Amino acid sequence: MAADVIATCVAEKPNCVLGLATGTTPIGLYADLVSDYKAGKISFANVTSFNLDEYVGLAGTHPQSYRYFMNDNLFDHVDIDKARTHVPDGTGDDDQRVSDEYEAAIREAGGVDIQLLGIGPNGHIGFNEPCDEFPVRTHRVELTESTRKANSRLFDSIDEVPHFARTMGIGTIMRARKILLVASGAGKAEIVRKALYGPVTPRVPASILQFHPDVTVVVDAEAGSRLD
Ligand code: GLP
Repeated sequence: MAADVIATCVAEKPNCVLGLATGTTPIGLYADLVSDYKAGKISFANVTSFNLDEYVGLAGTHPQSYRYFMNDNLFDHVDIDKARTHVPDGTGDDDQRVSDEYEAAIREAGGVDIQLLGIGPNGHIGFNEPCDEFPVRTHRVELTESTRKANSRLFDSIDEVPHFARTMGIGTIMRARKILLVASGAGKAEIVRKALYGPVTPRVPASILQFHPDVTVVVDAEAGSRLD
């Protein structure tokens, strides 16, 4: 269902700008998009993409980097021009440069048409962790221990999980014209309820989506089990 939302966007606007996400949840979505491409139903030849986030310290060749994930799950299997796929640079120390260049590139591309989001068990979107103020722009963030622990399942051990990431800010995400939030599994049920029906607070970063005018939420039965 979520793949169809993205595929419809690409079909209606072949040069659309996709905001993409990593994590386990969208893997099936990317597989469906690859099938649609292979069946000749859609082409990504004119699509531009911007990913939400990247670990600091992992180059794009690292198997746990989000650049690697995107190549492996989508970009290597469709006709997208890799030069038009963007993932925040995880290398180097110049946070300000990465932030300025990423924000400028999104602006120059005309803004994101549809932003795909997963949700962390603590309510993070991208890597915007619970905090006191909504971060506006692309920035460097220190990952919480709970996020490092949750994401350690994809690394050999928790010691290998980076402590920092670079992520689009909440402001960057909120400027997307449409948002598509996906969540699956019982472990997300409570946070999905809080995000959609709880108070809007930077302590639950996804709750800001209540203020976005065009949000589609796709959940499986378990993740949606606490919704009315
Ligand atoms: C990571 C990503 C998020 C993603 C989250 C949930 O922390 N930075 O963008 O939404 O994981 O991942 P999963 O779908 O594996 O639960």
